[in-house]
Amino acid sequence: MSEEQWWHDAVVYQVYVRSFRDADGDGIGDLAGIRAELDHLVALGVDALWLNPCYVSPQRDHGYDIADYRAIDPAYGDVGELEALVQAAGKRGIRVVMDMVANHCSTEHAWFREALAAEPGSRERARFLFRDGRGAHGELPPNNWQSVFGGPAWTRVTDADGRPGQWYLHSFDPGQPDFDWRNPEVAAEFDAVLEFWFARGVAGFRIDVAHGMVKADGLPDWPGADTGEGGHNAAMWDQPEVHAIYRRWRAVGRSAGDPERYLVGEIWVPSAGALRAYLRDDELHQAFSFDLLVQPWDAGRQRAAIERALDLVGERTPPAWTLSNHDVHRTVTRYGQAQDLGDPDPSDMIAAARRRGPVDLALGIRRARAAAALQLFLPGAVYLYQGEELGLPEVLGLPDDARQDPIWVRSGGAELGRDGCRVPLPWRTDPAGAHGFSPAGAARSWLPQPAWFADFAAERQRDDPESTLGLYRRLVALRHEMLDGAGPVEILDLAAPDVLALRRGDVVCLVNFAAASREVAGFGAGRLLAATAPESSGAEAPEISGPETSVADVLVVPADSAVWLVAARLPAGGDLPTTRAREGSSTPFAEVAAQ
Ligand code: BGC
Repeated sequence: MSEEQWWHDAVVYQVYVRSFRDADGDGIGDLAGIRAELDHLVALGVDALWLNPCYVSPQRDHGYDIADYRAIDPAYGDVGELEALVQAAGKRGIRVVMDMVANHCSTEHAWFREALAAEPGSRERARFLFRDGRGAHGELPPNNWQSVFGGPAWTRVTDADGRPGQWYLHSFDPGQPDFDWRNPEVAAEFDAVLEFWFARGVAGFRIDVAHGMVKADGLPDWPGADTGEGGHNAAMWDQPEVHAIYRRWRAVGRSAGDPERYLVGEIWVPSAGALRAYLRDDELHQAFSFDLLVQPWDAGRQRAAIERALDLVGERTPPAWTLSNHDVHRTVTRYGQAQDLGDPDPSDMIAAARRRGPVDLALGIRRARAAAALQLFLPGAVYLYQGEELGLPEVLGLPDDARQDPIWVRSGGAELGRDGCRVPLPWRTDPAGAHGFSPAGAARSWLPQPAWFADFAAERQRDDPESTLGLYRRLVALRHEMLDGAGPVEILDLAAPDVLALRRGDVVCLVNFAAASREVAGFGAGRLLAATAPESSGAEAPEISGPETSVADVLVVPADSAVWLVAARLPAGGDLPTTRAREGSSTPFAEVAAQ
């Protein structure tokens, strides 16, 4: 891949800064902590880091409420520390991508404070969406929009004389006032913010709610509020004028130097066509493909999601695949729950953070390992969320009084929210210093870790090639070695609908979604590169850690697992590999810590 197109096939590791590693002992992760753990990221083989927002913020939504776009929050470090991280990572061939939250800021941002102190109709208020209320005394919100986090999307301010005044729009928490992107002053300010960080070596930005920045002209009422249809309020999202912002940002990124700076959008829109509109040559480089993330563990559904994503973007702008992030329940937990085969709403940003119900953790880990093998086989960028490489489950049992997510707070505890995927990482088995998250003797970690986190510590897995960490390392290394530049993926039609078979060149990935083993024949005697199920280390399918091993023409793929192999023979049209069910169930998976 050319330097210019580094992002095409990149493995990008998402760092939730607050929870990655705490170097200074205040119980909160920081930039120095990331620098201290670069060896972990190098060994994993990642090409870039995406840092969740680490600018100055009152942390009502943990950094997605920014008070100063040109400074790092003191809890995380300072601008010099960010530059040190960019340099240290760069020396190891790892780029740093930051998060740009430009739909809204914090109520503590200087502009919002100025707006509160100014009159209705003033230049200061015109940077936000202030409106008079409805009703005889302006006591009703200007329209019926609902916030993504629950409750009305409007909050009324109190004027200097103590009387109730206008209302301001917040698509999320009341602490996150929306900018008015139809105001040219807002657009000019963000050009300057991007330039500020590009000048410090940042390789690009992940753009928060990239489809939401412009609202429908006139802020019309949402008919769905009365019909109870819920979900998507079209007037809040995906307005045609939003594209002008990305044309502008792309130009800023192009003039920042060589290679041009990368832009990847978080875009939840109901149709593939709507997503495609953001991926033009002069707009975003990539958009996350959330389609795999919202699909259940089902071969047909996963295949259809992959085909949709590939059809959508084609070769020029390969997808950015993601199975989890800081907004959704962790993969092993989702896959260990009863699978919902209903159609997910592709525009519902937080549905995947809502699931409850019993979890079969061993099954979830087994499927998540197979899902990683599938994801890492695909052309395009692959985003890994910190802790995924450790097989870390969601912490569903956080004490109520520890939870901090505004979704939890605003729903009065009805929605669990996203704290459970943000619990600080376990680095060591020793509970001192929050299992190595903090130095010994540090303050309590900002979210408490359960005792069973020790079972997933990086230290425990580091030297075990069959651990989940060992598997990720091997898959990422193989991806770089065998698949970088290997071209498009072809999905093969096998006789068994529950085995998904993909090929890139002569490398093949087989994923068995069934609850029983399957035999696959037709690829000739080949070389096994990796297998995700521990019992594959038996005679029939050699261990993942050992040297690459030849396999017979008939390969057994255990239940809920995946293999990568180099095929000795590739199927021609009409000569497709066959599969058949294998009698009996596979060896039980090793015990893992239960929650
Ligand atoms: C981010 C969330 C955040 C929200 C508001 C999202 O899409 O990923 O974590 O709460 O935007 O900024």
